[in-house]
Amino acid sequence: MAKNKFNQSWLHDHINDPYVKLAQRHGYRARAAYKLKEIDEQDHLIKPGFVVVDLGAAPGSWSQYVRERLRAEGGEQKGRIVALDVLPFEPIDGVTFIQGDFREDRVVSLLEVELGLRPGERGVDLVLSDMAPNLSGVGAADAARMEHVIELALDFAQMHLKPSGSLLVKAFHGSGYSQIVEVFKRHFVTVLPRKPKASRDKSAETFILGRTLKHVSARE
Ligand SMILES: C[S@@+](CC[C@H](N)C(=O)[O-])C[C@H]1O[C@@H](n2cnc3c(N)ncnc32)[C@H](O)[C@@H]1O
Repeated sequence: MAKNKFNQSWLHDHINDPYVKLAQRHGYRARAAYKLKEIDEQDHLIKPGFVVVDLGAAPGSWSQYVRERLRAEGGEQKGRIVALDVLPFEPIDGVTFIQGDFREDRVVSLLEVELGLRPGERGVDLVLSDMAPNLSGVGAADAARMEHVIELALDFAQMHLKPSGSLLVKAFHGSGYSQIVEVFKRHFVTVLPRKPKASRDKSAETFILGRTLKHVSARE
């Protein structure tokens, strides 16, 4: 009964959500596109010519948005998008998709091969991670799973971002959040918390943006 009430309230919010309507009108596969759009408009994250990795990309609204941004003035796409998810993904023109679990070394290797990068080689301008593991409802276990995928995204960024590159990850406020921010501060010159309007107030979801790697020489 309580579960049903919860579902009804979620459905009510969803149907009346302006971002759901906007996404439908614009042809985005998810309202999540507006979270990335708002952060991009504030922080100028995406530029034509960039190599962008989109982790946890399904159903694909972030990749759709990135693709628009790589096509300056609606022209040819300049740059690359490599998207990855454990779930299947309807193809998007100009987006290379890898299906697999980012926690597996084999899958990270596939991503490196697709990017044409050896381990430790830098060539990515922006790593996005909207990855969210399935929640079990057990707070500590869920926080640990979330932290784990964020750490993996951070390791990947640390290894493959260009010195001037950026990493944007989804996180959840609560246990583990401040430690994640501390780790970001060890790796990035600038660390910014972001809670776009399209991220529901009720949700503990928040985003952390790290910009410009520390301890990396510009020639590396
Ligand atoms: C909130 S959705 C992403 C929505 C997407 N940004 C969009 O705009 O369409 C989170 C995604 O993360 C994926 N995910 C979670 N853990 C993952 C993992 N370990 N490896 C790959 N994908 C993962 C899920 O399958 C899910 O599709």
